[in-house]
Amino acid sequence: MTTAMQRHNWDADIARRTQGLGGGEITAILALAGATDVITFSGGFPAPETFATGVLAEIAQRLITSDPAVALQYSATEGIASVRDYVSGRLASLEGRTPGDGELMITSGGIDCMELLAKTYLDPGDQVVVEAPTYLGAIMAFRGYEADVQGVPIDDDGLRVDVLGSRLAGGWRPKMLYTIPDFQNPSGRSMTLERRQELVALARKYGFMILEDVAYRELSFSGAVPPTLWALAPDVTVQAGTFSKIFIPGFRLGWAAGPAEIIARLVVAKQNSDQCSGALGQRMLEEYGRGGHMAEQIVRARALYERRAGLTGEALARHMPEGTTWTTPQGGFYYWLTAPGGVDTAALSAAAREKKVAYVPGRPFYPDDEGHAQIRISYSRVDDELIDEGIRRIGDVLKTALEGK
Ligand SMILES: Cc1ncc(COP(=O)(O)O)c(C=O)c1O
Repeated sequence: MTTAMQRHNWDADIARRTQGLGGGEITAILALAGATDVITFSGGFPAPETFATGVLAEIAQRLITSDPAVALQYSATEGIASVRDYVSGRLASLEGRTPGDGELMITSGGIDCMELLAKTYLDPGDQVVVEAPTYLGAIMAFRGYEADVQGVPIDDDGLRVDVLGSRLAGGWRPKMLYTIPDFQNPSGRSMTLERRQELVALARKYGFMILEDVAYRELSFSGAVPPTLWALAPDVTVQAGTFSKIFIPGFRLGWAAGPAEIIARLVVAKQNSDQCSGALGQRMLEEYGRGGHMAEQIVRARALYERRAGLTGEALARHMPEGTTWTTPQGGFYYWLTAPGGVDTAALSAAAREKKVAYVPGRPFYPDDEGHAQIRISYSRVDDELIDEGIRRIGDVLKTALEGK
């Protein structure tokens, strides 16, 4: 019993599955979403210049006036039928495969798909394999259901499928493998076709589900990308897609495509979370896409991100201390840096804040204790004219740390 004056210790009551979940990094990233005095290379935010606000305003007004019974109403949990039809047609033309009956649902962003899958399929202690490093929101989603998250390294050709193969031969029995095959977060790297085929063969042999996250797939600078894992192996793959990076994150929309029996389970799980994704956003997405605006936006976005990636690469070459290495992205939002001399990038966050620059330290992108010398740099939302100055500030922070060693 607590008296009126005593404060209850709510922290002592938290569920076991929530303990040690962290989350501080994502909170810190989102807290800087509106910061104007910091050069922010931290969040994986799309550039607001890519948002077609005039077209969106016109579509919103039209839908609210002429289609309120659908656009302002609850919708089917699996998504509005016409919106699923639109997304299905997109997948057919982009990936060469049309989802069959019950194989596609609309989600509230990519993270919703991960959460629904984890909730539905993971018991405490179940093994989930991820790329090391990987998207930290996914690690959190799996850990939230007390999964045993294990990392497999990546190199310039993506996931080290050979390492995965020997771990499986040695006794690993994952229920799920999570991969971002195209322009990965945080490393910017992509998986070759050969490795995709080998991964699919392992999934079929050992009976695990592949969760394929295609968040940055359409933001290739050159256009050419290997087939998706879902197109190669729809029997063992669930594809998590998002409209956050190619359209807008503000509607929180994405899709899940996979075997019908899995999607049916995810629909039930969604009934117990947000019940349905927002109808206005769904209908706006559909109208925008069918009107040809999505395709135009993606062309503009690719050019913008390619230019910013180039400016960032030039600035890194100018300002990073000797011995620093980095990946060079061919698409997506990220450079992945490794600092020399045993620098601890998390410990430098305060120094970076003082210099009014922000990045994400490498450690949280790994399921175990790695990444201390690494940094993720997201160039997607930094104005062209601020990139050089921002990278110079990060270079100064690293150089000061090295001098102090
Ligand atoms: C690889 C990857 N997947 C999924 C997401 C989640 O995006 P959303 O939930 O906005 O769709 C992100 C966002 O940063 C991401 O980087």
